[in-house]
Amino acid sequence: MMQTIPEAILNWSKSSSIQSKKIPELLNDHGKDIFPISSQPLIKFIESREDIYQTLSNQSIENTRTWVLTQSFYHYFNELSSLETKLICNANAGIISDSYTVKFDRDFKQIASTIIIDEGFHSFCSLNALRQVEEKTGIKPIKRHKKNSAEHIFSCCRKMVEHQYWNDFTLVVASILEALLAKDLDLCLRAKNRVENANTNEFFYSLQENHLRDESRHSCFALLTLESFWANINDQERNNLLPAIHKFVELYSAVISFGDKEFNCQIITELGLNDEIANDAINFYAEYKRQDAKQIHASMLNLLIQTKVFTAAVDA
Ligand SMILES: [Fe+2]
Ligand SMILES: [Fe+2]
Repeated sequence: MMQTIPEAILNWSKSSSIQSKKIPELLNDHGKDIFPISSQPLIKFIESREDIYQTLSNQSIENTRTWVLTQSFYHYFNELSSLETKLICNANAGIISDSYTVKFDRDFKQIASTIIIDEGFHSFCSLNALRQVEEKTGIKPIKRHKKNSAEHIFSCCRKMVEHQYWNDFTLVVASILEALLAKDLDLCLRAKNRVENANTNEFFYSLQENHLRDESRHSCFALLTLESFWANINDQERNNLLPAIHKFVELYSAVISFGDKEFNCQIITELGLNDEIANDAINFYAEYKRQDAKQIHASMLNLLIQTKVFTAAVDA
């Protein structure tokens, strides 16, 4: 059993430089959605099905909506925090410690250090947001069984690469994800004006806006890192990495289309709905996300062409 942190240490931690930065605060505006519907289209699915309304008859529909959106908020920020610390910080630490075939100069290393600090701060903001929402709503997060979906795909694809290039593959994937995150945050913010998001709490957007301020910068650095890395490895390594990169693009595009299937199925099951409905829900989700998924997929191909990892004619 994990020990609880003594009050004295908790208070002392408040003097850390990171905690002196201003971060978004969740205000009491009852009845607002904590998470945008466009980021969790399962709500639209549930509301479109007469038969589900009947199954849910014991619970109020409004409670279901609040519960699903709150769980989705928890899921989103937990995944983000884990991805940014485990994968992005790790990849940047590798730049500083010369862990790749390509060695980076001092300027790269200094910027990589700032990114580690930024990501630590983003993770802190995500965890702080989770705490604020849980304290205000009293809704406990459901227990999750699987690791982060992007991380899971990354581990699967890495197995396709020779062991000596595993570190290098981490750098490639982290660079792709860093470059994409800014695009993803931007899409989220643009969706603010959609009709279905009219009732979304400003808190979510403040968190995204804060985050995007750093991620636009990170995205440029990630592209530069990937381009420099790719230009300086030999053909043998390129040929070894390429099939795994293609596989990553394919699998990650599916996550954008279908969302985290396992998480969405867990939500549907916890609502007491059957497998057939879960299946319909997943298809509805993919249909709803079709445009976003297309854009993210195109961005992935573009950034890989821009950094000369893919050649426009052959690979894309
Ligand atoms: Fe971040
Ligand atoms: Fe970042």
